[in-house]
Amino acid sequence: MDAEYKGRLTYAKGTSVEFVVGPNQDVDFGDILVVEGKNNDRFYIRAYDFKVKSRWSGINGVGYLMSKLDENGQVENQEDLDFYLGGNHTVKIGLAEQLCYADDSGQLLNPKTCPDFFCQVRALSPQDTSLLAEMKGDLEVGFLKSGRGALSLPVGIYGSQAITEHIGVFGTTGSGKSNLIKVLASSVVDSGNYGLLVFDVHNEYFKDLSSHPMSKDRLSVYHTDVQEYGKKIAVNFAEVDADDITACATFTEPQLDAIYKLSSIWKENWMKYVLQYDVDDIVEELAGCTGQKYNARTIGKIKSICWNVMQELNIAEEEQTVISEMLAELEQGKVVLVELKNISAIGEQALSTLLSKKLLKNYASKTEIERSQIKPVLIVLEEAHRFLGKKAHSSNNVFARLVSEARKFNLGMCIVDQQPRLLADDVLSQLNTLFILGLASKADRTKLEAMCRKDILSQRNEIKNLECGEMIVATNYMRFAAPVKVHKFENLLEQRYADHIPSIPVQ
Ligand SMILES: Nc1ncnc2c1ncn2[C@@H]1O[C@H](COP(=O)(O)OP(=O)(O)OP(=O)(O)O)[C@@H](O)[C@H]1O
Ligand SMILES: [Mg+2]
Repeated sequence: MDAEYKGRLTYAKGTSVEFVVGPNQDVDFGDILVVEGKNNDRFYIRAYDFKVKSRWSGINGVGYLMSKLDENGQVENQEDLDFYLGGNHTVKIGLAEQLCYADDSGQLLNPKTCPDFFCQVRALSPQDTSLLAEMKGDLEVGFLKSGRGALSLPVGIYGSQAITEHIGVFGTTGSGKSNLIKVLASSVVDSGNYGLLVFDVHNEYFKDLSSHPMSKDRLSVYHTDVQEYGKKIAVNFAEVDADDITACATFTEPQLDAIYKLSSIWKENWMKYVLQYDVDDIVEELAGCTGQKYNARTIGKIKSICWNVMQELNIAEEEQTVISEMLAELEQGKVVLVELKNISAIGEQALSTLLSKKLLKNYASKTEIERSQIKPVLIVLEEAHRFLGKKAHSSNNVFARLVSEARKFNLGMCIVDQQPRLLADDVLSQLNTLFILGLASKADRTKLEAMCRKDILSQRNEIKNLECGEMIVATNYMRFAAPVKVHKFENLLEQRYADHIPSIPVQ
């Protein structure tokens, strides 16, 4: 790709620059361009606005041009008008912000100085290696967007930095969130250096991801019912904590109190006994151990929820090893899908809480050395406001704990939601990488502008106009937020593996 000429610099002050857009050149909101400095240095700029200037802009000039129109405002003589408007009488000026600066050795720095007058402005090209290396990452998600198209310059995230610092994926319905997760998952499969645990609320990932050539070795799917593919989840009574049950339904204070008391009395057998004994026996046992007399209805509700969860998660007496297998797969760097479509909201909440807690416990219990031998894991949580919403967050659920503690243990959360404004502020403020897809609501965009660590205010126009599959990536180790055209999953597999099927190295 040739470095395409785009225009010439006409003004610079601080980090603001203006440039005249070359005749017949397209420059759009959000385009990243390069100003060629005089000393082999480069200034990377982003266009955020435009204005059109003409020698005819004054009141007299406009009046004169208007006199060339007929009484209906239509052009009478196009050639005549073109003569006045053409040539260099009218120019389009691009307003841009300097993002960063590369010195003559190619080292990337924050803005140091401003470019000189009339320097050349050009499109990005593969020769901008240091900038491209910063954006490329090891988990590719798309190409750098430029105007209405995409340059063939890959953009992604560095998993080792981004995963434990948490990721947010936000976009209105149909903006391309699920497609993005599929692309990210397939990059994780390619890489083999990270684990990915996806709670798939619509059972939409397996069909596509299983067409990845390496899926046989690096993709695992679990569900709670019998299917032709994947493994069936089954849980031991001892694996269910009081928190797993309290997370999945609304309980009154006395009910919560009784659950915690029961679990402290009966320890790992608490759920088994709750289901096994009659309400009256449980009330008596509690009275005997704690001196408190609980209402039979309180215990009845607990029994009923436990029964539902037992049915849905296949909780049984026989020794089950499914969860430990799943944890081992994540440690080895596999993509694990947990299909949740066919279970109720109660089962879904219990299962996602239980698995995430096991993962957190497992990673937290490792020593530094052990942890360095296992892969970092990213947990993808869709419709996350149900777990991390403004109200939900106050109850100390496992996801809130993951957001605040997981990075210490090499785990991270990927929070996917249509409406970021529904999420608790202390959750949003912990997300250091944002994938911002099209957001129809102004309230959501304003929320992100306020919470995002990168200054994305100047990209307001761009964010407002994002089309399906387009996004802005803002991450804390990149100097600026980049516009990206996300790969379409179906095309990605076709292109990436058109002429070679990768083989997995034997370890
Ligand atoms: N990068 C892309 N390029 C081309 N088409 C895309 C891209 N991303 C998504 N699409 C198309 O847009 C449609 C919606 O995408 P997707 O299902 O990913 O949206 P979503 O944000 O997950 O929606 P929902 O919130 O309803 O789940 C799909 O049919 C998909 O093919
Ligand atoms: Mg979706």
